[in-house]
Amino acid sequence: MEIFRTKSVEQSIRDTEEPEHRLLKKLSALDLTVFGIGVIIGTGIFVLTGLAARNTAGPAVALSFVVAGIVCALAALCYAEFASTVPVAGSAYTFSFATLGEFPAWVIGWDLMLEMALAAAVVAVGWSGYFTSLLATAGIPVPQAIADADAGVINVPAMAIIAILTAILVLGIKLSARVNLVIVVIKVAVVLLVILVGMFSINAANYSPFIPPAKPTPAVEGLGAPLIQVLFGITPVAFGVIGIFSAAAVVFFAFIGFDIVATAAEETVNPQRDLPRGIIGSLAICTALYVAVSIVVVGMQHYTQLSETAPLSDAFRAVGRPWIASLISLGAIAGLTTVVMILMLGQTRVLFAMCRDGLLPRALSVVSPRFGTPVRSTLLVGAVSMALAGFIDLGALAELVNIGTLFAFVVVSLGVMLLRRTRPDLPRAFRTPFMPVVPILSVLACVYLMLNLPVETWLRFLIWMVVGVVLYFAYGYWHSRASRAPVIK
Ligand code: ALA
Repeated sequence: MEIFRTKSVEQSIRDTEEPEHRLLKKLSALDLTVFGIGVIIGTGIFVLTGLAARNTAGPAVALSFVVAGIVCALAALCYAEFASTVPVAGSAYTFSFATLGEFPAWVIGWDLMLEMALAAAVVAVGWSGYFTSLLATAGIPVPQAIADADAGVINVPAMAIIAILTAILVLGIKLSARVNLVIVVIKVAVVLLVILVGMFSINAANYSPFIPPAKPTPAVEGLGAPLIQVLFGITPVAFGVIGIFSAAAVVFFAFIGFDIVATAAEETVNPQRDLPRGIIGSLAICTALYVAVSIVVVGMQHYTQLSETAPLSDAFRAVGRPWIASLISLGAIAGLTTVVMILMLGQTRVLFAMCRDGLLPRALSVVSPRFGTPVRSTLLVGAVSMALAGFIDLGALAELVNIGTLFAFVVVSLGVMLLRRTRPDLPRAFRTPFMPVVPILSVLACVYLMLNLPVETWLRFLIWMVVGVVLYFAYGYWHSRASRAPVIK
């Protein structure tokens, strides 16, 4: 069937050499690792730690971070093999085009747009919250009408930060990498500060019970119920050993982003070697930091007392160190800035790859000779993210980011097994170990986490996908370049 025509890996690589659509190769393994850390550390550790410890896992939340980290590591090993074999912009979209075919690739590209543009807008709104509260502390109150799309009219700070980051992304990948580096240094310094200073305020009594006894939570009715409950009647349990796993589904958000390193494949000087290093390195560093932070925080304050909105800074206030609490707020603002920037970077590269293939208008994939960046697709992503963050109440949509990401992980894990079968000959600088155990476990773990998401999230996800399918048959199918070029294997 035509819609399952694949684009050979060789053709994908050839396309990166077209003069008008060529991205500049400037990134090193270190740049990629720092990109990874820049996008991974954000809302997850600064906010969700408290929520997950208090409601679902207790002090064992540190183990939830380990579980979520393992799930991500399984997927990361698959991403690393793919990225080292097909070092072309577009990440899971490009990988799918090489293995599953054009239509599945479109579906996954459309899904990645959901993950990244929406996540960028959601995190920008979180940024605006921290920023306005810091201004208020400094005696400069910002009226709610212009700083909150939900309770007010428009969220100007969120729109402004997206506009500034869009400008940086347009000006060049190396500039973006430099800005990212400076901010990541601040962010990691704050995280280390939390660990090193917090360590001395630990009260061992707070660790007991480390795994609080399990207790059933009232079953959620209607569309808010997790799909697993609707399908199999399994109701959510808080605390106990099961609670550790349920909390892992919540803190999964904290790890989102390592996959975005793969979208910068084409801008990497030595992608075969450096992409696996960047993906696995950033994930490993962040997992270690997360586990350490969560152990310290639940040791500083009893889990039942932790704040659900600002657990890290509140724990320091509780032990009488308010100045550290203020530093943490600054760190959170810095941290969220790079999360938004790199999510948008990833989004522009996926859009760029889809446009270059003709599945969306080709004109959007023209690279500016002056800046070496896809200016048009960057501006479009900036405008859409600004509109989303500025005018829409995104709270309810945040879980869509999780489902979108998990879906991409499933497809990549399946794809890596398939490509080993269909193209065993390709040079693979990095090979996923323990084939096929790692990708199979990755698929199972991701599906399990997806089943724990609410039915309404699934419905919204399906609606988004149906819109994508309609768009494909209305436009992409007819304009795809794969239909003109003979498939070269
Ligand atoms: N991992 C990113 C965060 O926690 C998305 O904000």
